[in-house]
Amino acid sequence: MAVDTRDIVKKREQRYSYGLTLLRDCIEETRDLPNEEDFFKKNVLRVEDITISFGGLNALSDVNLELREGELLAIIGPNGAGKTTLLNVISGFYKAQKGDVYFQDTKITNYSSHKIAEMGICRTFQNIALYTGLSVIDNIIAGRHPHIKYNFLNGMLYFPWARREEARQRAIAEDIVDFLEMEQVRNTTVGMLSYGLRKRAELGRALALEPRILLLDEPMAGMNLDEKEDIARFIVDIHEFLRIPIVMIEHDMGVVMDIADRIAVLDFGLKIGDGTPEEISKNQKVVSAYLGKAGEQ
Ligand SMILES: Nc1ncnc2c1ncn2[C@@H]1O[C@H](COP(=O)(O)OP(=O)(O)OP(=O)(O)O)[C@@H](O)[C@H]1O
Ligand SMILES: [Mg+2]
Repeated sequence: MAVDTRDIVKKREQRYSYGLTLLRDCIEETRDLPNEEDFFKKNVLRVEDITISFGGLNALSDVNLELREGELLAIIGPNGAGKTTLLNVISGFYKAQKGDVYFQDTKITNYSSHKIAEMGICRTFQNIALYTGLSVIDNIIAGRHPHIKYNFLNGMLYFPWARREEARQRAIAEDIVDFLEMEQVRNTTVGMLSYGLRKRAELGRALALEPRILLLDEPMAGMNLDEKEDIARFIVDIHEFLRIPIVMIEHDMGVVMDIADRIAVLDFGLKIGDGTPEEISKNQKVVSAYLGKAGEQ
């Protein structure tokens, strides 16, 4: 069922949530956040002519896509359309048979998934990928790993500055926990959490990586209305407060129409539409392939 968050998002005059200030300070120590003047102008990610097939089935055929600075791009399409495959190609988990992926101006087509994540393209998975035996806070701290400024030996010897660094990393992780309103479950083992809370924890871990681009694969799948609204406002806040461009695969058209700046539509591995929510809702090809009667109305 669709959630109409439009009113909440459009009428708000201030951030919904608290937290993330420590994380933002931390990000700003190493790079400038993009200026609003650059929004929607510069490409941060470009996918060119991507083709990939599995045993004769074309999962993606000549797909072109770009993500611009300051943009929240939604990818929609029926089951099996190739949405997750596209994220897998961008993040280096699948190698396309044809085509290239560019992050800013760097060709990353043949980079390993590890290197791509290190460059700041961070993602969440359709089937949650967390350390189920660790607590929420420890999963988020694990996400901080690339940013921790002491090595193993110093950590073992427990120099005072290593201790300070550990306290700082814990404070950043706590800031993320506060933002995601997970204080009550911060020490709960992830495997014990409800599906919705696990999805939220996964978002927390992706944030801990200080992403330059965030790729979200169905962040609201399987959630009830309240949980969806929570996630929708977290995503909007991450996007606005940290100025992180986001690609979000989502089936819930209420949310997509509400929070996306632009929507790309996949169908049987082909991109059949790309435009603003208004343009997409009027695109006849999209309406008949995906939106059906609900779209026509
Ligand atoms: N590793 C793989 N091996 C074989 N086939 C695959 C593999 N990954 C994806 N496919 C196939 O590619 C097609 C696209 O799958 P994909 O998971 O990208 O769809 P999707 O749009 O994410 O669908 P959903 O909305 O159900 O998540 C499907 O037919 C799927 O079975
Ligand atoms: Mg999928």
